[in-house]
Amino acid sequence: MEAKLELKMEKNNTKAKQPSIQDLPGVGAATAEKLELAGYRDLMAIAVATIGELCETAGVSEAVARKMINAARDGMKMGFETGTDVLKRREIVAKISTGSATFDALMGGGFETGAITECFGEFGSGKTQIGHILCVNTLKEDPDAVAVYIDTENTFRPERIQRLAEGAGLNPEDALNRIMVARAYNSDHQMLLAEKVESLITEQGKNVRLVVVDSLTSHFRAEFIGRGTLSERQQKLNRHMHTLAKIGSSHNICVYVTNQVMAKPDQFFGDPTVAIGGHIVAHASTFRIYLRKGKKGSRVAKLIDAPALPDGECCFEVLDIGLQDVN
Ligand code: GTP
Ligand code: MG
Repeated sequence: MEAKLELKMEKNNTKAKQPSIQDLPGVGAATAEKLELAGYRDLMAIAVATIGELCETAGVSEAVARKMINAARDGMKMGFETGTDVLKRREIVAKISTGSATFDALMGGGFETGAITECFGEFGSGKTQIGHILCVNTLKEDPDAVAVYIDTENTFRPERIQRLAEGAGLNPEDALNRIMVARAYNSDHQMLLAEKVESLITEQGKNVRLVVVDSLTSHFRAEFIGRGTLSERQQKLNRHMHTLAKIGSSHNICVYVTNQVMAKPDQFFGDPTVAIGGHIVAHASTFRIYLRKGKKGSRVAKLIDAPALPDGECCFEVLDIGLQDVN
């Protein structure tokens, strides 16, 4: 089956890229289009689909659907691997420094590549500043690196990047040239921009090491108001997070998203705020950090979710030149 898939790929003359839906046996241009319209965008979607689903959406016979699923599964090389394989794969994981030693330590060395890190917190808690700082530190750590900034609130500030770049010993103009910024005007636009990151890498050959989405949820929150629209909003957010997770893991990119909080009216004890986006965002984020304002202008970061790190807190300050520890 795998041989068949490879053969078909050769015929399609696809240059060294991952097999796509069109490379599956029995899938021509028309079927591929039907599948894409129905939301089956990659081999994974086919590999985990049922025969009935595919018959219905693509109008193919059961036998063809079965062949497609099997070929997709073979093409995906799904299945188990050893812990050693996973360890080997994790060797390429890099950590992007925040500039604050205690913040880095809290994160196990910095913000991880190949994962999504979410910061949520009230206005002015430092979410956007962290996005700017991560851009600069990404560029500092790798001279070929490019950072992508998807700006939904018009808060990206080139002047701020210049100042931080100076603080990090980089050429401010060079730093700005290596940050690709896009303003997202609504949630659909935001989702499209996230999908376009892939082509920056594969078509334009950019060495994207960081993708910032600031803020992840503001458009979704503004556009879907009221209970009736909640499930549609969550579905779209889910798809968006999926896109970001895929970019992160397939290209070993650090994905940083910011999230707002809303008042939780039924909470009497503890923190009366909760992150927007609910379980969808929470589950799709590998690392979650709650940011709040601390004493004397400091900021407190609390790690509340991480795969292999203890929960904890740290205190830092936002300075002109970057972040700094506060004892
Ligand atoms: P919202 O997007 O409104 O939810 O807030 P946010 O969490 O993104 O906050 P943001 O990162 O914009 O933090 C703003 C705070 O960072 C300001 O109140 C300042 O304390 C600090 N800050 C921003 N720019 C500078 C700067 O150039 N120098 C210094 N020292 N501090 C700055
Ligand atoms: Mg902000």
